[in-house]
Amino acid sequence: MDTALSGPNALEPYWMPFTMNRRFKADPRMVARAEGMFYYTPEGRQVLDGTAGLWCCNAGHGQRRIVEAIQAQAAVMDYATSFNLGHPLAFQLAGRLAAMFTGDLDHIFFTNSGSESVDTALKIALAYQRTRGKGTKTRLIGRERGYHGVGFGGISVGGIAKNRMYFGGLLTGVDHLPHTHDLARNAWSRGVPAHGAELADALEKIVQLHDASNIAAVIVEPVAGSTGVLIPPRGYLERLRAICDKYDILLIFDEVITGFGRLGTPFGVDYFGVQPDIVTMAKGLTNAAVPMGAVAVSKRIYDTCMEQADAPIELFHGYTYSGHPLACAAGLATLDTYAEDGLFERAAQTAPLWEDALHALKGTRHVIDIRNIGLIGAIELDSRPGAPGERAYEAFRACFDAGVMVRVTGDIIALSPPLIIEPNHIDQLMQTIRDVLTALD
Ligand SMILES: Cc1ncc(COP(=O)(O)O)c(C=O)c1O
Repeated sequence: MDTALSGPNALEPYWMPFTMNRRFKADPRMVARAEGMFYYTPEGRQVLDGTAGLWCCNAGHGQRRIVEAIQAQAAVMDYATSFNLGHPLAFQLAGRLAAMFTGDLDHIFFTNSGSESVDTALKIALAYQRTRGKGTKTRLIGRERGYHGVGFGGISVGGIAKNRMYFGGLLTGVDHLPHTHDLARNAWSRGVPAHGAELADALEKIVQLHDASNIAAVIVEPVAGSTGVLIPPRGYLERLRAICDKYDILLIFDEVITGFGRLGTPFGVDYFGVQPDIVTMAKGLTNAAVPMGAVAVSKRIYDTCMEQADAPIELFHGYTYSGHPLACAAGLATLDTYAEDGLFERAAQTAPLWEDALHALKGTRHVIDIRNIGLIGAIELDSRPGAPGERAYEAFRACFDAGVMVRVTGDIIALSPPLIIEPNHIDQLMQTIRDVLTALD
């Protein structure tokens, strides 16, 4: 396949997502192939993947079982609608996913991305409240520095100013909990930080302001990933769950990042031992080989909608590509890969080594905090005066040139390697970051 780009304006037509397009097109970085722990540039230069793509290729790149499953399915049946029609793979995948959850999260709705999963979860929460006769419970509670994708629902409950400020009035009836990032008390924490469980009590204040009869659901990422790896303080999620129970409010965990072994457990639900009512997923569900998202809901929610819906269609919601056959094939092969290769357990075993290697960067130039959980790490840098984000962006570019892919958000370097990472890769990753930061202004 010819991947060459020719002509002076070859990069122009593509409006790239979440990218400084003008800057990128003046100085592009390309990858053309991927295998195992590595990307390869069009020239064949190897780049170690420190981010599992975008927190999503958890089993590493080009996994044979997944590739073959997609190829085989494409030849058997390319597409079938899931509106009033079924195909076996979608039911199989729903069954496999439901079986992965503890508790009663036993029904699965398919989407095509994390953003769609979030909007689906919010809509299911509203529909459930109305269906059971609590139609005034419409308010949705998100959190500062939360990222829930880019749909209008997701940016409304999300807590990132730039993702909200350009897009008008957003959803009405939304409030936000405070974020949990507290460098003054929790800097250099290994794993779950000690301080801040009381921040969950802000939900009590929101209830006092609006009354519980008006609140449908709270949505949080168990670990906030996209805004720089904000790990929940010890006891925080438990407290949130208890307050939701007290006021009959649904709790939604957005596990688009924390799902599928990222924390060394199947889901954040398992890592933290806190049971939400709804879980959103995407990314690692298909190892990112075919876009797919999903929402797991509790038996109580599903049964209520089945038994009490006032219309023959119990939920007026769905996507052309919900349960797409290629995505289902990829999902089933991905779950097989995780299970057969023991990748969640492997992530848990690698996590202590990962933690030590990461925290050994303490004392490196510009570094003001390091934090970790499972196979996630964050290195927070001192911002350059008057130029927030610039130092980390330069670090990202220098790392890429030095053969390592990291992700940056603000002045935080976020790491989330494929779960197949080996000790020598960890060494390469950390050494490259150390060298790059040391050389950086
Ligand atoms: C927690 C969380 N929710 C939702 C999303 C959105 O997923 P997508 O980009 O697939 O729409 C992301 C993406 O990073 C995420 O991290």
